[in-house]
Amino acid sequence: MRRRFGTPLSPSALRVMLLGSGELGKEVIIALQRLGVETIAVDRYAGAPGQQVAHHAHVIDMTDPRALRALVERERPHLVVPEIEAIATQALLDIEAAGIAEVIPTARAAHLTMNREGIRRLAAEELGLPVSRYAFARGLDELRRAIEGGIGYPCIVKPVMSSSGKGQSTVNGPNEVAAAWDYAQSGGRVRQGCVIVEEMIDFDFEITQLTVRAVGDGGAVETFFCEPIGHLQQHGDYIESWQPQPMSATALERARAIAGTLTASLGGRGVFGVELFIKGDRVWFSEVSPRPHDTGMVTMATQRQSEFELHARAILGLPVDTGLLCPGASAVIYGGTDGAGVAYEGVDEALRVPGSDLRLFGKPEAYARRRMGVALAHGGDVDDARRRARLAASRVRPVAPA
Ligand SMILES: Nc1ncnc2c1ncn2[C@@H]1O[C@H](COP(=O)(O)OP(=O)(O)OP(=O)(O)O)[C@@H](O)[C@H]1O
Ligand SMILES: [Mg+2]
Repeated sequence: MRRRFGTPLSPSALRVMLLGSGELGKEVIIALQRLGVETIAVDRYAGAPGQQVAHHAHVIDMTDPRALRALVERERPHLVVPEIEAIATQALLDIEAAGIAEVIPTARAAHLTMNREGIRRLAAEELGLPVSRYAFARGLDELRRAIEGGIGYPCIVKPVMSSSGKGQSTVNGPNEVAAAWDYAQSGGRVRQGCVIVEEMIDFDFEITQLTVRAVGDGGAVETFFCEPIGHLQQHGDYIESWQPQPMSATALERARAIAGTLTASLGGRGVFGVELFIKGDRVWFSEVSPRPHDTGMVTMATQRQSEFELHARAILGLPVDTGLLCPGASAVIYGGTDGAGVAYEGVDEALRVPGSDLRLFGKPEAYARRRMGVALAHGGDVDDARRRARLAASRVRPVAPA
């Protein structure tokens, strides 16, 4: 694959459209711009982080297939790069089939992963990968039967279409089932009337195995692995990540075998965040993002090429280097307050922590649990880096405007 690189805003431009322009999309856009790519940032609200750095910005409802198709036809990007799950993926399948643009990594990958049912059935039933026991339920009675008939307690109930832990709850006994059903109905992206219930895995730790499908020296797409990223989740949202996560050679080998099989089946080029649970040498597949992963922001402190640079290179058909430079960590900075145009105090003190760095995403509106920034740090080892990242994050104080 040999692609010509052009001049942005001229007829020779190589044009890439991001569907979703949050903090992850922003970094992908910056990486693309360094290679002279013309970027188009799409989001559901104006002033999204990626829109602040892109050549063009559009606000549309990306779950509306007609609006999405019309925008792609008008802008004519060479590549369409989904950054979020909540997209009218049928429109992506149509756009790809009609040859209007290339969808990253593939329209089918975006389609399958937006719904937990699609990706779970692919992983467990078609590819035979190890996963937690699970069942789908389309009503409260069915949910009860699934739990009592095999999944057991404790278990986790999730809407089939949701992210960041929305609508997700742990069920410890029969008297908590109805509340979990109701919560899942309110927390999904759309009222779907369908949930997945999963056996609770008592893991030692969980990782994101960043996996890159990129053109190798031989000219064919090959699979490249980053060092495993460990992370801590709270209310279904990540609060800290670090790299490399120490683990047994057997577990690492199994994790990569799972990630390799799954991403090969999804196909295309780009970065994938494969989420896995680890207990000793045992490994379970949990889910996958066919795009950079939020826990992978740590790679901006640890790798020669961050996951965003890797994504940009992979989708453009360029070579990648997944090598680690040093141990590092990331710690999330939450809004802590509600309101538009918050200010940040303590940035100076935060950056005085040795080895630290910061990303403030520039989101126009804060709310208490909204991720507004991230502190990064490298260190002599992971524990050292985690301490530094946490300390730097704690020194940044979002304040509501007077
Ligand atoms: N079967 C399980 N057993 C144990 N823990 C689980 C299980 N499923 C989910 N979790 C915990 O909940 C977290 C969020 O779950 P999951 O990744 O499925 O949801 P999500 O809403 O898609 O989150 P995100 O979009 O942030 O990745 C996991 O990272 C893990 O910590
Ligand atoms: Mg997840």
